[in-house]
Amino acid sequence: MKTKANFSGMKEFDVTGRVEGKIAVVTGAASGMGAAAAQMLAAEGATVVLVDRNEALGVKITEAIGDRASFVKLDVADEEQWNGLAEEIKARHGGLDILVNSAGIVHIAGVEDTSLEDFNRVIAINAGGIFLGCKSMLPLLKKSRHGSIVNIASTASHQGFGLGFAYGASKGAVRTMTKSIAAYCQDRGYPVRCNSIHPNEIETPMMEDVMQRSGRPETVAEGILPPGKLGATSDVAYAILYLASEESRFVTGGELTVDNGSLMRPWATSIPDQA
Ligand SMILES: NC(=O)c1ccc[n+]([C@@H]2O[C@H](COP(=O)([O-])OP(=O)(O)OC[C@H]3O[C@@H](n4cnc5c(N)ncnc54)[C@H](O)[C@@H]3O)[C@@H](O)[C@H]2O)c1
Repeated sequence: MKTKANFSGMKEFDVTGRVEGKIAVVTGAASGMGAAAAQMLAAEGATVVLVDRNEALGVKITEAIGDRASFVKLDVADEEQWNGLAEEIKARHGGLDILVNSAGIVHIAGVEDTSLEDFNRVIAINAGGIFLGCKSMLPLLKKSRHGSIVNIASTASHQGFGLGFAYGASKGAVRTMTKSIAAYCQDRGYPVRCNSIHPNEIETPMMEDVMQRSGRPETVAEGILPPGKLGATSDVAYAILYLASEESRFVTGGELTVDNGSLMRPWATSIPDQA
């Protein structure tokens, strides 16, 4: 049956229960794409555990979703906290079907200006967070009938990022970890698929930050890619929904770009590669 759902910042969309009855964990769910994914998965019938280190914003989004959602404060770089979450989910929900890893940070500094400390911090969150999330949730996911992991990488996984050296390195790791996990699960007959999404130029607080720090906000805000607009968080949430649902049952180890063609035409990207 078709109904309608509407969340702040998203256009009204048709809902048909595409992930009805599934249990999902979404990291980075207090903001941007993680928040949009949590809202869409819940609207489509999933019970969603929103995870973020920003408790105030996370609770706000969770309350807006309603009964199908709960919030857990967690730092994705902390293994103990992930293990605690796995126990909590097992006790509260009995299992897990979907893991969306969207939490991430950006650090604007090129290779010459990146300290080892900053490099390690970005890698620990953007790459380590996904490693720990997948590792700790796999024992639950492999007991699902149809487990799905969706990792949010970036077009920087392919292109690198001159202005964000550590960020580019971390996203390259997300791309290959995704394939390693997909192959590992398939080889063992685990019913768990693992895919990555590679967004670019999506309007979120992180993108705003990049625009401000890269020194050409007016160019980026206007956009030079056709059709000249940044993407919406719902553009990525729809891709997450597809990969999370059983509609994508034959898709694993794959990568989906949601970038308005910027990977196809890297010279046209709105983000300058030099300050
Ligand atoms: N916005 C874009 O155009 C774009 C492009 C490519 C990739 N991405 C990726 O998409 C993902 C989501 O980004 P967004 O644009 O929605 O950003 P955002 O800043 O709006 O959201 C990121 C969320 O991650 C959370 N977070 C950060 N570090 C954390 C930690 N250690 N533990 C738990 N939570 C943590 C933040 O609190 C925030 O709620 C990120 O992985 C980002 O790298 C974004």
